This record gives sequence, C-alpha cells and structure tokens, in this order.
Amino acid sequence: MEVKIFNSADEIASAASEMFVKIINDKNDAVLGLATGATPVPTYGKLIEAYNSGKVSFKNVRTFNLDEYCDLPRDDKNSYYTFMHDQLFDKVDVCEENVNFLDGNAADWQKESERYSQAIESVGGIDIQLLGIGTNGHIGFNEPADAFTGDSFKVTLTQSTINSNQKYFGDVPMPRYALTMGIGLIMKAKKILLIATGESKAEAVKGMIKGEVTPKLPASVLNEHKDAIIMLDKAAASLL
Ligand code: F6R
Repeated sequence: MEVKIFNSADEIASAASEMFVKIINDKNDAVLGLATGATPVPTYGKLIEAYNSGKVSFKNVRTFNLDEYCDLPRDDKNSYYTFMHDQLFDKVDVCEENVNFLDGNAADWQKESERYSQAIESVGGIDIQLLGIGTNGHIGFNEPADAFTGDSFKVTLTQSTINSNQKYFGDVPMPRYALTMGIGLIMKAKKILLIATGESKAEAVKGMIKGEVTPKLPASVLNEHKDAIIMLDKAAASLL
C-alpha cells in the first residue's frame, strides 16, 4: 500500500484526476470503478475540466459504481445513479450504455450480484477502483463485521452510516438497505485509489494504515492489495 500525503483536498483531486486521465488515455476503453459521497466530488470536477480542455474523452470508457441504495427509484434525487449523473456523467461524453450500477430494486439480490460480477468480468475487470472511507472504516457499504465479504450483497446500513448520510435526505427517512460490491469483488480491481480528506477520517485512516488487517476495519484489507494507493490530506493523516 502506497500512502501519499497532500497539502489540500484540491491537490488530491488534481493528482487523482491525472491518474484517471492517464489510465483512460493509455487504454481508451478503460474500466473505471467509481464511488459516490463527498470525497470524490472535487476529483470528478477536475475530470470534467480535463474533458472540457480536450485532455481526455470518456467515449469508450466503461464505469461500474460501488453501491446503490435499495427501495429508492433509480432516478430519485438521492440515488447514487442520479448523483453520478449530476457530478460526472452528464458533463462528459460517457455513453449511457457503458454506465453500470447495481440495481437496488432487483427482486433477487443474489442474482443481481451474479449479474454484476459477470458484467465486470466480461469487460476484463476494473482497471482502477476509486474508494472513499467511512468514519468507521467502511469501503463501499462494507461495514465493520466478523468476516470479509465476497461478491456484491444486500447490506443493512449501520447507525453510523445513517448518521453520516441522513443529511442528504433532509426530512425524508433515508433507505435502511443498500446493495454494495463486496470486499472480494473490490479487491479484484487491478489498481485501487482510496482518498480520505478531513479530520473526521483520521481515526479510520490510522487503523487502516497502522492497525492489523481485520474485517472490523474493512479498509484495512487494502494492505493486501498489490497496487493500492492511499491519498490523504494533512487532516486525514494527522494521527499517523
Ligand atoms: C460511496 C461509498 C462510501 C463512501 C464513504 C465516504 O460510494 O461507497 O463508502 O466512500 O462513506 O463518504 P464521504 O466521501 O461522503 O465521506
């Protein structure tokens, strides 16, 4: 695991977007694993800038998002599908047929999980997976648990995650379940880039980097990935 510390979230966004642009330009039909949440938004902003200045095209890029809420229409304003379109897809030349999400409303989540794994495999696997980290060390919606997860699965969100995300839903109670790529599937990505910014992530970051590999801090599994890069701002790195 390679740890890089930056002065600001803006510097991270530039470095992360340069990494993505290089991978896309080297491969043209690159397969991107993408994340939602506040952390990647500045990186998506820089990718849009790179697209607008002709440095990159997403025309042949395929994307797979990490997770999606259950029991929320796909085009609900709070779905991750909508989030990604607002933050990136609608502002670049990605083709809608190349955009992939887990279907949080699938009748049978096990079949949906198989479909997603096969879809990823059929395009040769994920070239780079972008991740954020929860204050409890979660990645995707893989919450602290007794064992690492495998392929995608249906998760009951923890109170900690609900406390962090309820703000986006205002007065409407947020979903209690989500479908998420499991740890096993995330770890199959050829390269992983985890970004953490802000003091609220410092404890989880310390556990991930200095602690043991344990499903009780799911991000710690990245120590076992052969090409994982962690980009931190000074606040997120403050307990290292
Ligand atoms: C998002 C995701 C989550 C977030 C994490 C951090 O697709 O899977 O694991 O990356 O909750 O969220 P933010 O960036 O909002 O602090």
